[in-house]
Amino acid sequence: MAILVTGGAGFIGTHTCIELVNAGYDVVVVDNYYNASPKALERVEEIIGKKVKFYECDVRDKKKLDTVFKENKIDAVIHFAGLKAVGESCHKPLEYYDNNIGGTLALCEVMRDNGCKKIVFSSSATVYGMNNVSPLTEDMKTGGTTNPYGTTKYMIEIILEDLYKADNSWDVTLLRYFNPIGAHKSGLIGENPNGIPNNLMPYITQVAIGKLDCLSIYGNDYPTHDGTGVRDYIHVVDLALGHVKAVEQLKSTNGGVRIYNLGTGKGYSVLDIVKAFEKATGVKIKYKIAPRREGDIATCYSDPSKAKRELGWEAARDLEEMCEDSWRWQKNNPNGFDD
Ligand code: UD1
Repeated sequence: MAILVTGGAGFIGTHTCIELVNAGYDVVVVDNYYNASPKALERVEEIIGKKVKFYECDVRDKKKLDTVFKENKIDAVIHFAGLKAVGESCHKPLEYYDNNIGGTLALCEVMRDNGCKKIVFSSSATVYGMNNVSPLTEDMKTGGTTNPYGTTKYMIEIILEDLYKADNSWDVTLLRYFNPIGAHKSGLIGENPNGIPNNLMPYITQVAIGKLDCLSIYGNDYPTHDGTGVRDYIHVVDLALGHVKAVEQLKSTNGGVRIYNLGTGKGYSVLDIVKAFEKATGVKIKYKIAPRREGDIATCYSDPSKAKRELGWEAARDLEEMCEDSWRWQKNNPNGFDD
């Protein structure tokens, strides 16, 4: 069975390709390398010990994408390709809507024209917006997103649901990720942010390696156990395995929309993460308390029980392992894939 992975050279994409190959699937990757490095796929090939079929292609390029479908018998698509920086999306909304929404529309059109109607979409906990109370369940009202990036995820969910309503032979799986961190055990691949990281774990690892001086903790007056923001951090390999389970489910489905949270169900604060990182790695993290960051909420964690019930998937890697693996990647690759 062949799976097309769009954005397969990215952080979650590379880890998912490895787990798909480990599970016996053939993988075809498309990526435009906008936010990813060709080295990432070379490393994937090193890890799995074989070549990955790859097309340098923007998913908005319908003609080229059509060739990918004509040259390969694609059974299902995992769609990661898209822009993902929250702050940047506020300054470049047109680019975000064009890439993320335009890309998904083009992909679905080409899929339909080639008779492939099974898609797993890379959604986000951000679709729950600001108003739901954790633990978040899949039946909660979505929307109320606070930035164009989040709004594209919300809109794409609606587009894919409408697609199914219009044609019941589509199979759509929406995976809502919580906060992916960690890296492959080999230390060969991991998260490789451009410029100064926005997300917590890459910021911490860059302080640890000495590239950044001091972590700013955004607010210590939230109604949480220590005042700092609480999130549901999930190991990227667990997340990747969730995609394998979603693809397995698609083998026997015959139309439908299924939605799953991929999280651990556990909430950790920023200070919990700093302490866990220091304990797991023996490296001290310099930090200071800074004002709250706009758009942040106090607490966000999943109820992952639906994925366990229906996909037979559950996160297995704990916070210590997430910290160790994030650190191994950063330590071995101080400049990411540019080393
Ligand atoms: C963010 C995005 C979310 C996206 C996710 C991808 C926002 C509002 N949300 O989630 O849409 O899907 O990344 O992983 O940006 N923190 C600090 N100092 C830092 C960085 C972060 O204290 O330098 C804190 C934050 O305030 C938050 C926690 O760490 O409490 C996690 O932040 P982050 O890693 O940016 O993830 P989210 O904000 O949860």
